[in-house]
Amino acid sequence: MKPRVLVTRRLPVVSLSHLESVCEVDLYTKNEAMSPDELKRRVHGKDGLVCLMTDQVDCAVIKAGSNLRIIANVAVGHDNIDIPCARSRGIIVTNTPDVLTEAVADLTLGLMLTISRRIVEGDRLVRSGSWAGWSLDFMLGMELRGKQCGIIGSGRIGRAVALRASAFGMRVVFARHGECKSNHSVQALNTSDNDTWISLDKLLETSDVVSLHVPLTEQTKHLINRQALMRMKQTAYLINVSRGSVVDEKALAWALNSKLIAGAALDVYEREPSVHPDLLGLETVVLSPHLGSGTRETRSAMADLAVANTISVLSGKSPLTPITP
Ligand code: DGY
Repeated sequence: MKPRVLVTRRLPVVSLSHLESVCEVDLYTKNEAMSPDELKRRVHGKDGLVCLMTDQVDCAVIKAGSNLRIIANVAVGHDNIDIPCARSRGIIVTNTPDVLTEAVADLTLGLMLTISRRIVEGDRLVRSGSWAGWSLDFMLGMELRGKQCGIIGSGRIGRAVALRASAFGMRVVFARHGECKSNHSVQALNTSDNDTWISLDKLLETSDVVSLHVPLTEQTKHLINRQALMRMKQTAYLINVSRGSVVDEKALAWALNSKLIAGAALDVYEREPSVHPDLLGLETVVLSPHLGSGTRETRSAMADLAVANTISVLSGKSPLTPITP
């Protein structure tokens, strides 16, 4: 008998066919996320679960899936899954690292340019018909060359951003391992002799652009709060492509309104798809709808990897990209 797998959202045809060639697939085809009750009902009796970051796979869901051997998240972030609960039941949890690194790093630089060069603000002006024409001091922005890019989170994506920022002539600094929040550490995946490591406080105080690339954990929740924002330069920009709750949105709106920082560009939000209402009316914030990994190539690669993980585990082999403690 084929192993049974619940897939919580439509996958690209090639990935789905691959999964269907090995497993009996129960595919949820609606566009919105499955309700917690439906998720619990449909995961029952399944050997595998392929889910998205919009599915809350909490302990109740995991217990409902008493036969589960693998939970394959189609995302690199995994704050939507109760990993300790899964682990205590012997369930392997996988994510999709590497395949989305370049896409997320590209978007980060896109957002940096968009906010520092006021591209969206300019677009709004042109569309409104209020553009009065070119002049020497019109809508001036900040040049990236020669500025300091402070990267919080030195994993794959943080490093790919560093590479791009350097190519734009920026000086890159990383928040020193272990100082991203008092008494807690944010894991550094790689280090190189050429890196400049400074304390988180120093990074906030001296950077022209602060870019967030940490996973959401208890330690990183609201890492960027009022106090952190108050440390930043008045001319600085904040970029968040990690998880919404790493930033206290209310505090950010307050900081922008009070002109404590120059601007922010966000791709992720505390309560997606809602955005804090105080942010919506601000000219100094660019808001994109969680597009970090949103290229055709990357999303297909993410689905392929989640399927490959599922097939591997359900055929008795090791997962390709397990989430390790
Ligand atoms: C991820 O993989 O965690 C991304 O946020 C999805 O775009």
